[in-house]
Amino acid sequence: MAAQSVPQLRKDFLWGFATASFQIEGSLDTDGRGPSIWDGFSRTPGKTLDGGNGDVATDSYRRYKEDIALLKSYGVKAYRFSLSWSRIIPLGGRNDPVNEQGIAFYSNFIDELIKNGIVPFVTLYHWDLPQGLHDRYGGWLNKEEVVADFVNYSKASFICFERFGDRVKHWLTLNEPWCVAVLGYGRGVFAPGRSSDRNRSTEGDSSTEPWIVAHNLILSHAYAVKLYREEFKAKQGGVIGITLNGDWAIPYDDSPENVAAAQATLDVAIGWYADPIYLGFYPPYMKQMLGERLPEFTAEELAVVKGSSDFYGQNTYTTNLIKAGGNDEFQGNNIQTFTRPDGTQLGTQAHCAWLQTYPEGFRALLNYLWKRYKMPIYVTENGFAVKNENSLPIEKAQNDTDRVEYFEGATESLIKAVTEDGVDIRSYFAWSLLDNFEWADGYDTRFGVTYVDYKTQQRYPKASAKFLVKWFGEHIPSDKVEE
Ligand code: NOJ
Repeated sequence: MAAQSVPQLRKDFLWGFATASFQIEGSLDTDGRGPSIWDGFSRTPGKTLDGGNGDVATDSYRRYKEDIALLKSYGVKAYRFSLSWSRIIPLGGRNDPVNEQGIAFYSNFIDELIKNGIVPFVTLYHWDLPQGLHDRYGGWLNKEEVVADFVNYSKASFICFERFGDRVKHWLTLNEPWCVAVLGYGRGVFAPGRSSDRNRSTEGDSSTEPWIVAHNLILSHAYAVKLYREEFKAKQGGVIGITLNGDWAIPYDDSPENVAAAQATLDVAIGWYADPIYLGFYPPYMKQMLGERLPEFTAEELAVVKGSSDFYGQNTYTTNLIKAGGNDEFQGNNIQTFTRPDGTQLGTQAHCAWLQTYPEGFRALLNYLWKRYKMPIYVTENGFAVKNENSLPIEKAQNDTDRVEYFEGATESLIKAVTEDGVDIRSYFAWSLLDNFEWADGYDTRFGVTYVDYKTQQRYPKASAKFLVKWFGEHIPSDKVEE
């Protein structure tokens, strides 16, 4: 009876945890895998905060059954993970050999998930581009080559769709293309580390390359989706889309310039990708800001890009207050802050500077996306890195009260967005199942709901995992109730 009064999500709501191949797998030279751009980048001194690299990570390539047992113990409905392109086509290109051992690994992985009643939610590309493609022709900078190779990794996707699509019904082409373009080719803090800042990189042009890379990412996504829809969708019955990153933006105050600045920030953070994909054009603000530097789609390309996602996929973590002014094009030439005009902070500070709790922003963002793009929403990442968690003894880290507070707020916003605002939300994946390799932060920043002792690779559930397990257990109708 009591359960009746608890507001409910859809019966088929997919809740679970997310990870990405390079952040957890390790075993970089195993079973025929080729190098990715993150292998060498993360091994280069000075590129990660603590000198950490992806060589071992959480050792999940070898411990995948243990990870799946953990997921099962949490009672998740789904698991979001990514395939390593370099395991499937070690050199990456369309004329390069396919690695059957890589295919076998992911095939066994998917079988193990299904055997445990967990829905596989698969990302094709989560940032680990085969190094071979970068060396051969500049990777994401080279439109003709990279689009063809992604479609060939859409032949590789062909292989993925063909070999895994009987069991995988949820596909994501790309994870957070904004980060690939801006952090990899603008700020140069992510692989391949290109930037105009010569203190950081010897190569790159931050004023042009990110916009080109983004354009090529959008096209690669769109042509891979076209292929899936033409060749596989009817017989396999899955859905395919892209997932973007983006945080809610609130005007710093009511002044018209700050109100406009908040919208411009959303245009660059989200609209840069979402507007062409769902609406069929780049945001006018971006054209105005970039002029000739913003590449254009041909009419034929645009026809493929527009509508190229079966759903709206979003990774989101925080909210920023936005002030007009500033000269960072990747933020729409606006200033982001967590400090309100009265000097107070928006929320609890995380370990990474860019993240504070502000659950009302999550709800507002979900409403904005729903109204603007009118697609069912899959929340594909949401999470929190507790400040200085890495320096705590394990038992203290397991008692992650700030992360619990974050998820309490997020789940409340989620259920309100669904039941009070009528937003159609289909999934919620917390980032992340495990503490793992946090890119340029190395292992210093921990996002996991499960603590990983990197010396022993032992896993220890944190309080946040228990909170989410309980919360989703109470908010998704169970099969048993209806019998
Ligand atoms: C988004 C990325 O997809 C993921 O790889 C990263 O670890 C989290 N954000 C946290 O920064």
